[in-house]
Amino acid sequence: MILSGAELPRLVAGIPGPASRALATRLAAHESPNITCQQPAPPIFWVAAKGAAVLDVDGNVYVDLTAGFGVAHAGHANPAVAAAIAAQAPILAHGLGDVFPPEIKVRLLERLAAIAPGDLQVSILANSGAEAVEAALKTAVLRTGRHGVIAFEGGYHGLTFGALAVTHRPHFREPFEAQLFPGVRFVPYPAATEDLDSVLAMVAHELADAETSPWPVGAVLVEPILGRGGLVEPPAAFLPALRGLCDGERTLLICDEVYTGCGRTGRWFACEETDTTPDLLVLGKALSGSLPIAAVIGTPSALSGWPPSTGEAIHTSTFLGNPVACAAALAQLEEIEAGGLLARARDIGDLIASRARRWQERGLIRERSGRGVLQGVRVGSPGAGTVLCAAALRQGVIVLAEGAGDVLALTPPAVITPAQLGPALDVIEGLLPGLPDAGGSDPTSHCASNGADTA
Ligand SMILES: Cc1ncc(COP(=O)(O)O)c(C=O)c1O
Repeated sequence: MILSGAELPRLVAGIPGPASRALATRLAAHESPNITCQQPAPPIFWVAAKGAAVLDVDGNVYVDLTAGFGVAHAGHANPAVAAAIAAQAPILAHGLGDVFPPEIKVRLLERLAAIAPGDLQVSILANSGAEAVEAALKTAVLRTGRHGVIAFEGGYHGLTFGALAVTHRPHFREPFEAQLFPGVRFVPYPAATEDLDSVLAMVAHELADAETSPWPVGAVLVEPILGRGGLVEPPAAFLPALRGLCDGERTLLICDEVYTGCGRTGRWFACEETDTTPDLLVLGKALSGSLPIAAVIGTPSALSGWPPSTGEAIHTSTFLGNPVACAAALAQLEEIEAGGLLARARDIGDLIASRARRWQERGLIRERSGRGVLQGVRVGSPGAGTVLCAAALRQGVIVLAEGAGDVLALTPPAVITPAQLGPALDVIEGLLPGLPDAGGSDPTSHCASNGADTA
């Protein structure tokens, strides 16, 4: 079946259906445990996705309110992005990142410099958000000579060892805690204006501690909107205040916009909302809308700690600046700009926000937060959102929970049509009043979103 991208849910088989169940059995035989969630029921297996529509292997069609982890901002299989990949792949599919770079890498770096705010002009490319976060942390060490990092409670920056050390959630950290860098201080993320002063005082205290601390702080790493931590929007004064505390010499301000960047909030970058230009800006996910590519963009000053490469770069990787991924990113950025997807994200965001406000007035949700196509609604006790996700899937709506499984992430592709969004939100609205006691579910898991009939 060929999807147009604008489909409404069409359910023709069980969720998961027999073909998904059979694939789950084959997958379980050959994939490590703990990668794909198989409990309490097997997942659905995707065979096609376009725009905001997803087709599973049993022929069920869903509306995607996740944009595939926030990647498909311009829609799944965006035609222009797909065409750029198809055009690049037969010509030059691989370059030698740091030795014989592909020509197209130069064009992507120039494009990133053109869209980045302020004097963010110099980038390091990477293959994942976590890797880009680590490149930013290395950059801060080289520029400041200080290894300590301030990160925030609830923050998520990826799961490789360097990124995991600055990721807060114990669920991810505990098995590996002994190997994590100890020089990270976690400070509460200010959800409300009344928290702001105390948080800023803590940050200022940690920064001032450089004389006595074994790990003087060289970087403050922050998400402009806490993403996986529950779509928490800080007070508007937060980022500007952090900017004021980081001087770009002894301490760099790093905005992790892997989730919020590339148009998701209705601006190119969420930090622009408060006119804050960090020293380093980290991007991933929606940067290419499809292929694995990420970047850290910084000021020339911030990047100046890196020595010139005299033949053996001290930071690189085999696929750095992969030409096909560069082509996808260039096409995606062009789609966002030429297709008016920043304004579109704001318009779709207005529809989501006005519906969520009505839910709040009716007492169906506790609160709403976020901007554009990056919003969340807090639905109740930990795990309640995860339960709702499973029920929504059974009605053809793909949605994930964040935070403690109590926040529904309403993060569709910006190209979702109002005709798709309305019915998808109707499904959620219909499920909100009947949320069961979520006590039995794992609050940190997306897993019940696999549509388990038992959930
Ligand atoms: C804010 C943020 N930073 C970093 C990452 C890690 O990105 P990746 O999964 O591509 O390594 C994520 C992933 O969700 C994220 O939300």
